[in-house]
Amino acid sequence: MAAAATPLESFNLIHPDDYARHGYPHEIWRRLRREDPVHWWDRTAGVPFWAITKHADIIEISKQPERFVNGKRLVIGHEPEQRPDPVFPPTLIEMDPPKHGIYRQLVSKRFTPRYLQRLHRDVERIAAEIVDALVEKSDSGECDFVREVAAPLPIAVIAWLLGVPKSDWNLLFDWTNRTIGSGDPEYQREGKTSQETAREAMTETFLYFSKLVEERKRKPEDDLITLFTQARVDGQPLPPMDVLAWCLIILIAGNETTRNATTGGMLAFIENPGELRRLQQSPALLPSAIEEVVRWTTPIIHFARTASEDYELRGKRIRAGDALALFYPSANRDEEIFDEPYRFRIDRDPNRHLGFGMGEHFCLGAHLARLELSVAYRHLLPRIEEVELAGPVQRLHSSLVGGVKHLPIRYKLRPSA
Ligand code: HEM
Repeated sequence: MAAAATPLESFNLIHPDDYARHGYPHEIWRRLRREDPVHWWDRTAGVPFWAITKHADIIEISKQPERFVNGKRLVIGHEPEQRPDPVFPPTLIEMDPPKHGIYRQLVSKRFTPRYLQRLHRDVERIAAEIVDALVEKSDSGECDFVREVAAPLPIAVIAWLLGVPKSDWNLLFDWTNRTIGSGDPEYQREGKTSQETAREAMTETFLYFSKLVEERKRKPEDDLITLFTQARVDGQPLPPMDVLAWCLIILIAGNETTRNATTGGMLAFIENPGELRRLQQSPALLPSAIEEVVRWTTPIIHFARTASEDYELRGKRIRAGDALALFYPSANRDEEIFDEPYRFRIDRDPNRHLGFGMGEHFCLGAHLARLELSVAYRHLLPRIEEVELAGPVQRLHSSLVGGVKHLPIRYKLRPSA
């Protein structure tokens, strides 16, 4: 591969359009890892930042949440930064210690493997319904894998966990698309900027959830909304806006990411049919295959940190107030950590990927995501006799979530066992 020939200017690391047009810039990240892993990126109308591309450096930074804070900014945009919107309170991932730990603890029990075992049957049922719906249509044909399979499952699971009635699941789909894909022409509101589009979607989400919150206060259920309404910090209930911020982060964080891991995994199986056959023949490989799908796809492109004090990293002087972008997909191809990083290998072991992040903010939903992915693939993959692309892959305009918006596939399914 002619990595050195790829000029850094050929791709803007935080421009949504470049990700939509070209997918992940693995050549550029490879160059940065090799030549300048802590790279000052100032070719932007937005805030300049340190591009962090090595696995070890992302760990070093993520493990120091007081030195590298989330509260100041969570993502780096390509437009000039606006002041934080005073209407929306910070969500969990925008909090810093010690508040972050206190808030996280309020719900962390609901996301442990042990608690999730209680959900297993329900997730299984939801996944089976989705795959059966596909099969009922026809045992061969064409479909948009995102719309038919990858998107409905995480929406359904999150909605069900939160306690949103089935009749409203489509609304959630629309709100997450417009919040995460606010810079995408398919979702951006006419005459509105990307920031205005996201704000409008968040306002609608807040209004919707405020009604459900009131209902749960009157009539508690065994769901997350009820848990948020009953939560106490220092003996006090959470401020109403914090309850809504909780609903928002669970909805937003759990949807696009899982959707894109499922879709990117399917694409990897299409491109590596040998690995699909291997998994069909050896279902015991599913857990390691799921980890490889998360490494391979790494749905979160970057999260930002801001230095709260001066710090030296690989000889570079990071100043207090500087922004940093942690490029997780780059860390997950780091040749110092991974053997043959550019090969999709379902039996990769060890697989110390950073797809779910690391340290203080390590993905709260990692076990849930693994459960969803494994249930979806367990229902679907054994049924696949043939699968291929039926059209171009359409990617999301986003430098936060590396998304495939539409994955047209042509398939032939076997009857269920
Ligand atoms: C394959 C699917 C998923 C991927 C790749 C993913 C990835 C990530 C990443 C990279 C982070 C930031 C970690 C860090 O800063 O170190 C994160 C945080 C988070 N994720 Fe996920 N996620 C996924 C699924 C989910 C699901 C299903 C939920 C369900 C609720 C969820 C909820 C969260 C929350 C609440 C946070 C913030 C945690 C905190 O700040 O303490 N995620 N996720």
